[in-house]
Amino acid sequence: MRKVSTMMCTCFAPRTTDQDDNPVGHRGNKVYVQDVSGTEPGSIHNSLRGFSSYSSQDYEAKPAGAETFAIADLARATNNFSPSNKIGQGGFGMVYKGRLRDGRLVAIKRGKKDAFEQRLSVEFHTEVEMLSQVDHLNLVKLLGYMEDGTERILVVEYVSNGNLGEHLDGTYGKVLDMSTRLDIAIDVAHALTYLHLYADRPIIHRDIKSSNILLTDTYRAKVADFGFSRVGPSTDVGATHVSTQVKGTAGYLDPEYLNTFQLNTKSDVYSFGILLIEIFTGRRPIELKRPSDERVTVRWSFRKFVEGKVADILDSKLERTPSALSIIERLAELAFACSAPTKGDRPSMKKAAEVLWEIRKDYLVEHQKEVKLKAERADSIRVESARSEMSADSHASLHQTSHRRRHWSLS
Ligand SMILES: Nc1ncnc2c1ncn2[C@@H]1O[C@H](COP(=O)(O)OP(=O)(O)OP(=O)(O)O)[C@@H](O)[C@H]1O
Ligand SMILES: [Mg+2]
Repeated sequence: MRKVSTMMCTCFAPRTTDQDDNPVGHRGNKVYVQDVSGTEPGSIHNSLRGFSSYSSQDYEAKPAGAETFAIADLARATNNFSPSNKIGQGGFGMVYKGRLRDGRLVAIKRGKKDAFEQRLSVEFHTEVEMLSQVDHLNLVKLLGYMEDGTERILVVEYVSNGNLGEHLDGTYGKVLDMSTRLDIAIDVAHALTYLHLYADRPIIHRDIKSSNILLTDTYRAKVADFGFSRVGPSTDVGATHVSTQVKGTAGYLDPEYLNTFQLNTKSDVYSFGILLIEIFTGRRPIELKRPSDERVTVRWSFRKFVEGKVADILDSKLERTPSALSIIERLAELAFACSAPTKGDRPSMKKAAEVLWEIRKDYLVEHQKEVKLKAERADSIRVESARSEMSADSHASLHQTSHRRRHWSLS
């Protein structure tokens, strides 16, 4: 039996009860839990509590971030919200690909009519205003919005190469290699570090999962979907934000947040840990079609890790190269530390990004050696076969010369 390294992993003990034991309402695999101690769901007080210390006046001095769009422009951009422009569907509503009049390719997220029933317009505006000022290479840029009656539409940067979940599932045929997976994990870690350290109040994403990680054509990752983001507590140590509604996705949701309603950047760290496990196992956090002891991927992989069978958890689609095997243990340690049951045992996102960066550096050194060795082997095989071809040729020409000589001497 393996002794789990104390550096990153002193605390991870898989919960013994199933996620189903939680008082969680599921819509698809979305999780919504109402805080019973809060005010009535949907009351004005309730909706605004998350923003009570962050009034819309805070933004007035800043340059305007969000653009406002007219419905006619968005209808034109999407061919009148044509089904052929549809690229996805989620909890918020339909997502369409569109081209604006100025030529920009955008994703247009049209909220379901009931998605905002209980939310105030001011909250929507404040959130969009704030989020449109966030700018990072690894975050999907929120460009603007449209609001008219019950219609609410978000316009975001279009990211062309599908989402990470689809790539891990093999939807596009091409298997993501280890180095690409590490790069993607680092991109996500950087995006979250940026959000958590943004201004003096962190932004907590709250819905980190593989369908919210979009990929570019060069496999750079961009974290999407700030629909659930909230301005978090100040960066004072121990500061937490009491949320009125727990939101997130089953399998990725921080159990501590679920039980205490205390929102903290470490809730994103938890989801990131689960995502990291997904990245190197190729398994979804919950896989209901598997035998019961394999359904919750974090528990299954942790058990394998403790039994010293960490290589078993590596995605079967990945080549088991010595370089991949050399880092899987450290990757697993990091992922388990991030998904520790209590936030105090989880590293910060910044720390997690640094550890990942080190792992990637070591991986690349080993991988380069492998590539070099492979090239040398291929070279020596080429030289060998060239040699044997040459000796076969010289043998043949010798044979021909002597045959010709014989022929001449006869004539
Ligand atoms: N900016 C974008 N660029 C390209 N495709 C996008 C973009 N945003 C979303 N999509 C596609 O649309 C799909 C649905 O997105 P959406 O965010 O509505 O739902 P989801 O992420 O699957 O679930 P959830 O509602 O829980 O976030 C995504 O999985 C993605 O494939
Ligand atoms: Mg999404």
